[in-house]
Amino acid sequence: MNLFVANWKMNKTRAQARAYALELGELIGGRDPGVEFVIAPPFTSLEESKDSRERWSLAAQDVASEKEGAYTGEVSARMIADAGCRYVIVGHSERRRLFGETGPVLARKLERVREAGLTPIYCVGETEEERDGGLTAAILSAQIETLVGDPPEEPLVVAYEPVWAIGTGRAATAGDAGSARLQLAELLSGRRNVRILYGGSVTSENARHLLEACDLDGFLIGGASLRASTFAQIAGLV
Ligand code: PGA
Repeated sequence: MNLFVANWKMNKTRAQARAYALELGELIGGRDPGVEFVIAPPFTSLEESKDSRERWSLAAQDVASEKEGAYTGEVSARMIADAGCRYVIVGHSERRRLFGETGPVLARKLERVREAGLTPIYCVGETEEERDGGLTAAILSAQIETLVGDPPEEPLVVAYEPVWAIGTGRAATAGDAGSARLQLAELLSGRRNVRILYGGSVTSENARHLLEACDLDGFLIGGASLRASTFAQIAGLV
């Protein structure tokens, strides 16, 4: 089933999250949407973003690399599971770039996520400079290396998110996203259950074409997911 993840990043108060959940619930209504919806709100709005009818599930946007203890400001995988999440975004390029997260720390985060019985949405993608230098394939394989210790029989979601496409309004072409998807599928061919998403300036205008032309399993959506109606539209619901 195709997967559509709304990554709200650092947006929405609890009241705004509640209004969004209400609207999305009305848009889905009682029908089976035939796709899987996930919302990744800030930690503070997890409770308000929940659907009592379980028409969507929740993801955390990040997780601590340590289990518990004296780590001020961190939130553990166990707490995230306890708060009702099913997924955790790991290695988003904003975490890599703005907060210095690299392979070893991401591998520890992945381990914590698995211990808590959660599914990672692991993000990979090259910067514009790396792309211009012809390094996309090398970067993607290096970033996939981080999954070496991750149990191959467990379900995994990988999101190809080229850094130059995130929040820029310049989505990857179907050619670029398609060839990255193929490479990732090849690199992950030893795994039993992988879904490959694309993220980076996905809109209701480009979603359908990208999804079909690249044989993707869904999208990780930032800006365009901030409105419930647009999120639903991207998923083909309205
Ligand atoms: P964007 O962000 O859709 O706003 O480009 C995607 C992401 O960072 O997950």
